[in-house]
Amino acid sequence: MNMAESMKKRSEDIEQILRGYLPKEEGQQKEIFTAFNYSLMAGGKRIRPMIMQETYRMFRKDSSISFVEPFMAAIEMIHTYSLVHDDLPAMDNDQYRRGKLTTHAKFGHAMGILAGDALLNAAFETAFKSFELLDDITDLAKYKELSSRIHRALQILATNAGVYGMIGGQVVDVQNDGKEINKEQLDFIYDLKTGALLRASFLVGAVLAGATKEQLDVVEIIANNVGLAFQIQDDVLDVTSTLEVLGKPIHSDEKNNKTTYVTLYGIDKSKDLVSSLSQKALELLSSLQLEDEFMHKLIEFLITREK
Ligand code: IPE
Ligand code: IPE
Ligand code: MG
Ligand code: MG
Ligand code: MG
Repeated sequence: MNMAESMKKRSEDIEQILRGYLPKEEGQQKEIFTAFNYSLMAGGKRIRPMIMQETYRMFRKDSSISFVEPFMAAIEMIHTYSLVHDDLPAMDNDQYRRGKLTTHAKFGHAMGILAGDALLNAAFETAFKSFELLDDITDLAKYKELSSRIHRALQILATNAGVYGMIGGQVVDVQNDGKEINKEQLDFIYDLKTGALLRASFLVGAVLAGATKEQLDVVEIIANNVGLAFQIQDDVLDVTSTLEVLGKPIHSDEKNNKTTYVTLYGIDKSKDLVSSLSQKALELLSSLQLEDEFMHKLIEFLITREK
């Protein structure tokens, strides 16, 4: 299988996991379930659960029980909620996402807000289900060890989604629409609005698998490099791609008068930075001396991604 085929297979497997956690579209509040499922199942690259699953696999020693699936679904729900709200008229005001109408464009503004809220809440309901997977464990020491990993993973997820994570980055991002900001301020925004959920993806996978403190420190730096490279590439694609390929409108940043890496450094320098940050992540990955073939290719893919 080449990389494109492996990624397709993995994203199909992730969608199968997501389907297991979807609400039924019934009851008086049916509209929210329809908007929820529409947003979550609209497509998308599923990069965050893919990274989480692969990081978990890389560090895992004990194959008896798999905890990562509820967290994979949870991170994709949080990410999807962040997109649904990012597209609202009060924020980036965009009409297309993942090749379809944005949630608010399809279901109305109120339902866009509520669908985002619902996805966020469902993310934690889903992640908490990982405790149910411990029910059959009779060895007390093992039970304690695994429940403390889940506890730590929940903390990482919550912190990186919140005001010291993605939300904090979005706050400073929208506050600076139309303003010129410097690299330091922009890096703060990127580290939080985009870096935080990617950091959570790597770290939750590693923590659930029982990685050591030293390994987690390296994983965090890998994640930070990948996160910044990912958002710079997003800035590049906002000016070089098309709606058809990207699945979301191009020139959204210009429309909102955003400072981006492209406005600060131009397209070529931005592309070079994506490449050098990713290279740094790849060197650190090799230093961990794990079986990292897929992760290596995934980070390489992110340098040249076209959507
Ligand atoms: C888009 O994320 C928002 C950013 C943080 C740049 P993705 O590019 O991962 O979006 P999907 O999930 O594939 O739609
Ligand atoms: C997205 O930044 C970060 C989020 C937390 C959603 P952008 O506003 O650049 O993301 P896109 O380009 O709309 O996907
Ligand atoms: Mg935005
Ligand atoms: Mg946007
Ligand atoms: Mg963008």
